[in-house]
Amino acid sequence: MRQPFPPDFLWGCATSAYQIEGSPLADGAGVSNWHRFVRTPGRVAGGDTGDVACDHYRRMKDDVALMRELGLTAYRFSIAWSRVLPEGRGRVNAAGLGFYERLVDELLANGITPMATLHHWDLPAVLDDRGGWLSPDMPGWFADYAQVCFKALDDRVPLWTTLNEPWVIADQGYMHGNLAPGHKSAYEAAIVAHRLMQAHAAGVQAYRAVGRHKIGLVVNIEPKHVAPDATDADRHAAQLADAYMNRQYLDPALLGTYPDELREVFGEAWPDWPAAEVQALKVPIDFLGLNYYTRAVVRHDPKAWPLPVAPQRQPGGIYTETGWELHPQSLADTLVWMHERYGGLPLYVTENGAAFYDPPAAINGEVNDPLRVHYLRTHIAAVQDAMARGADMRGYFAWSLFDNLEWALGFAKRFGLVHVDFQTLQRTPKASARYYADVIASHGAAL
Ligand code: NOJ
Repeated sequence: MRQPFPPDFLWGCATSAYQIEGSPLADGAGVSNWHRFVRTPGRVAGGDTGDVACDHYRRMKDDVALMRELGLTAYRFSIAWSRVLPEGRGRVNAAGLGFYERLVDELLANGITPMATLHHWDLPAVLDDRGGWLSPDMPGWFADYAQVCFKALDDRVPLWTTLNEPWVIADQGYMHGNLAPGHKSAYEAAIVAHRLMQAHAAGVQAYRAVGRHKIGLVVNIEPKHVAPDATDADRHAAQLADAYMNRQYLDPALLGTYPDELREVFGEAWPDWPAAEVQALKVPIDFLGLNYYTRAVVRHDPKAWPLPVAPQRQPGGIYTETGWELHPQSLADTLVWMHERYGGLPLYVTENGAAFYDPPAAINGEVNDPLRVHYLRTHIAAVQDAMARGADMRGYFAWSLFDNLEWALGFAKRFGLVHVDFQTLQRTPKASARYYADVIASHGAAL
């Protein structure tokens, strides 16, 4: 007997501003770090940019109509900081903010609950020029920006999140340099991680002053497993990887401490933050959002940088186009782990999905994506499993509503439930979208 979903469980899809909106400079918006990054030769596969993307900025009403057609009861989107505050601070651009007001009104008019993310990686370029996430001023600038959004939208937005996947910002933006701003330094990544959590804490505090609803944090967690024949060195490597990716953000935000292993992970690059400063990162939040895609089986590799850890491909495993193993069991285990380690907070799966090969154009009006259907079915069942094991599940958001700009991987990696033809911008719900619509209509019974 499967655990039934609670009556007010939200069924949504997630997107982010730079990945779908297009029109990045419309209506007085400022230049973002991503607008600049995509123009740096060699940074994004195929030279793709978010200049048009899914053209959602101009097709918003039709897109919300499509969400309604699919029966979504919630929609997770992000606000582009550079539309709201073109100079990053100070002057508010009413036209830019107006887009999100119209979006929220349209969602509500269609019975869809909005969940707004304040920062999903696109930062005003002028703030990058002032040091970006390395700057000790960023937490304050973030809180000021958040305050503007809360004041304009909290009367209509019941669910807010501060940051999307802070680990990716620090690791991919400042440690490995694959994403904006493209730096490669362990020293920087350690500082950025701390600034991000200070910004999160400052954002939540700003919310308590003016907000009336709920605010949380969205993290990506990837369980680190070892093979059955693992050595002690392999197990230690997995523990380091787990501290770095899975506990580096949640521990300070919810427990007020950093995992001890980070000293070993960062070595001399680890700043000894004063304990009181770390304790100050712990600010009560209302829920946690989990972005879950895969697990990793790892082994010790002394040549790997910055951690002595290498992933091991699993014989017989099913892998997505981004090389991620399908492992729904780890979604259930992660939710239960979050529930137990972080005080039983309400949980949302804020992203979950897969890039599989879909043809660039629909054939006879259809896009058949059986692997994505399989992915959704098994992962939504894993959410039920987590509920049966005690996790306080409040909603599930598939990534993503549309095929979109998969950051440095460009448009070639398609995560959408709705196919987008990037020549014509035509939207075609894939078989997975129809499947998800059935699951929603039956409140999970049609899994
Ligand atoms: C996580 C990110 O939040 C999102 O922007 C990205 O497209 C998906 N994962 C897929 O990689």
